[in-house]
Amino acid sequence: MVNFREYKAGARFFAVALGGSMCITLLMPSFDINHVNATEIAMTKQLWAGHETGFNLDDPFLLGYNHPVKASLKVDPKTGQPMPEVDAYVYPKGTPLPNGVLHPDNLGGVGEQLSLDRGRIKEASKDAGAVFLVSKDESGNPFIEDATATRGWMPDDVLKTAGDANLMYAGYGKTIFVREGCWWCHTLLPEETQDWQVFGAPPMLGDFNGESPTAFGSDRKAPDILHVASRNSSREWMMLHFFNPRLVQPHSIMPRFDYLWGPVDANGNKIDFDKWRAEYNEYVEGKRVTPPEVPAYARNSDARAVIDFVLSLK
Ligand code: HEC
Repeated sequence: MVNFREYKAGARFFAVALGGSMCITLLMPSFDINHVNATEIAMTKQLWAGHETGFNLDDPFLLGYNHPVKASLKVDPKTGQPMPEVDAYVYPKGTPLPNGVLHPDNLGGVGEQLSLDRGRIKEASKDAGAVFLVSKDESGNPFIEDATATRGWMPDDVLKTAGDANLMYAGYGKTIFVREGCWWCHTLLPEETQDWQVFGAPPMLGDFNGESPTAFGSDRKAPDILHVASRNSSREWMMLHFFNPRLVQPHSIMPRFDYLWGPVDANGNKIDFDKWRAEYNEYVEGKRVTPPEVPAYARNSDARAVIDFVLSLK
């Protein structure tokens, strides 16, 4: 008969070690994320992205529906008076409200109180639509302000006052970023190494409160893009690069995303992708001096949204 006695001690030691480590994990968390104050970055990001940019029942196929629009305003939409430029986050009727408004506790202690008391965020309603700002108190603490309650700014007025050229569809664009798998190659998380010198400062605790999903990326095969718009803010460059990265980076391994243009260009003319690619191949083979011209994207295309997202990463 085999004697199992020597395994008994080992099994007990194992149970104590496993049970002990689970107790530490479950009962003694090192910090409570709800008590970390949301930074200005966290508030800005959740306001431009909206409630959810991953899979959700409002947009199960990740088509970019139901997201807010960022509007840069130089004129007060209510009074028509000029004012210093302000970024307003417009939630048209029916747009799900951002997490900080639905669950103010994820703004942290200070941000939560200010947003509730001075920002009047609890007066915002999904059915009526709302306009939000990131404001600051006298000591510089950021909070979310419901400008519909505090200033009487209505979503449609803000969109009209800003004009299309001053609107950014970054939340819609983040959904495209998630859907297209950009995160297989790109990170949004510079590591705390020499990375800092190239890709900028790493994010801080409190930068992610209320963001869903966080887009850290998986492992990195391409540049970190957390601050990409600080080094390259050219919309034209982005247009060429997304249509076909080889137009600007001859040996790029990034796939082309020309299909994000959709069927028609900015003037409503059908885009002939086959013709474009045939001409591009002639250019690569040296039969043409210049590559064919990249069509201007339609204002409601996925291409515009993903570029708006990328240009918001500062
Ligand atoms: C197969 C990997 C891969 C995928 C998928 C990919 N990229 Fe890239 N991307 C790269 C590489 C490699 C570079 C650097 C060379 C270049 O500029 O093309 C790059 C460059 C970039 C740059 C310029 C970065 C800089 O530092 O200037 C941006 C912006 C960018 N990609 C955005 C995106 C977005 C948005 C998507 C998804 C729609 C995407 N990429 C998908 C590999 C990828």
